Amino acid sequence: AKKTTIAHLAELRASRIPITVLTAYDFPTARACSAHPVDITLVGDSLAQVCLGYTSTTRLTLDEMLHHCRAVARGTTTPCLIADMPFGTYAAGPRDAVLAAVRMIQEGQVEAVKLEGGEEIVPHVNALTQMGIPVMAHIGLLPQRHTSLSGYRVQGRTVESARSLVRAALALQDAGAFSIVLEAMPSPLGAYITEQVNIPTIGIGAGPGTSGQVLVWDDMVGTWGGHKAKFVRHFGDVRKEVARGVAAYVDAVRDGSFPHPEREGYAMDHGEWENFL
Ligand code: KIV
Ligand code: NA
Repeated sequence: AKKTTIAHLAELRASRIPITVLTAYDFPTARACSAHPVDITLVGDSLAQVCLGYTSTTRLTLDEMLHHCRAVARGTTTPCLIADMPFGTYAAGPRDAVLAAVRMIQEGQVEAVKLEGGEEIVPHVNALTQMGIPVMAHIGLLPQRHTSLSGYRVQGRTVESARSLVRAALALQDAGAFSIVLEAMPSPLGAYITEQVNIPTIGIGAGPGTSGQVLVWDDMVGTWGGHKAKFVRHFGDVRKEVARGVAAYVDAVRDGSFPHPEREGYAMDHGEWENFL
């Protein structure tokens, strides 16, 4: 397989071939995303909750994100590698956004960055893309703003809200974003925005009418035991398998059946044990 480029993603959109995106947070999950290759591996700031145990993505620092990006980069072959700009790294303006994005590319070894926000981040997206830093936009439900929005809610359910999301999508496209994540919005609106823009849309809880889909790794394999959003489907039950394995290991050590002295142990050279005694 060949390395996924931004041009290739545009071709997939034009051919109406759904774009596949999964998150990864470390070397093994990055390897898994490359093994049966997805088109895009995203180091999402969902890292904060699913890997680091924080209660919100807003706790994640840039240095923590960079540490995980490097591990994911080491395990990534063909997928395009994108990472979320952590909360606060672009809030103060386009200059901060550029400085943080350069660190993500140089130290984190990612190819593109993702930022949450609508028309208010157009200047940031302009500054990044004009300097050759590819940007994936992210509109709809913005987890980095859950406190000011009083929770995680579906967006775009009213005419006014839907119109503002369409405006945001067009403005972010004009600012140079090469793709847009649409999170938690009515399925018809996800399809409508996808028709209005000429860059790939990647949906999560935005229905089947987008150019592609993204899921959080732990939601997809079923290792996350926390809240399950309506849009999540478990494609595996790894949590159950992990629990079974841990229980079986602990039981086997306690009852003496692990390790087996020969099958899982080493022998002395022939006759040496008798000499040793
Ligand atoms: O942080 C994340 O994992 C994301 C995706 C779900 C789009 O932003
Ligand atoms: Na995110």
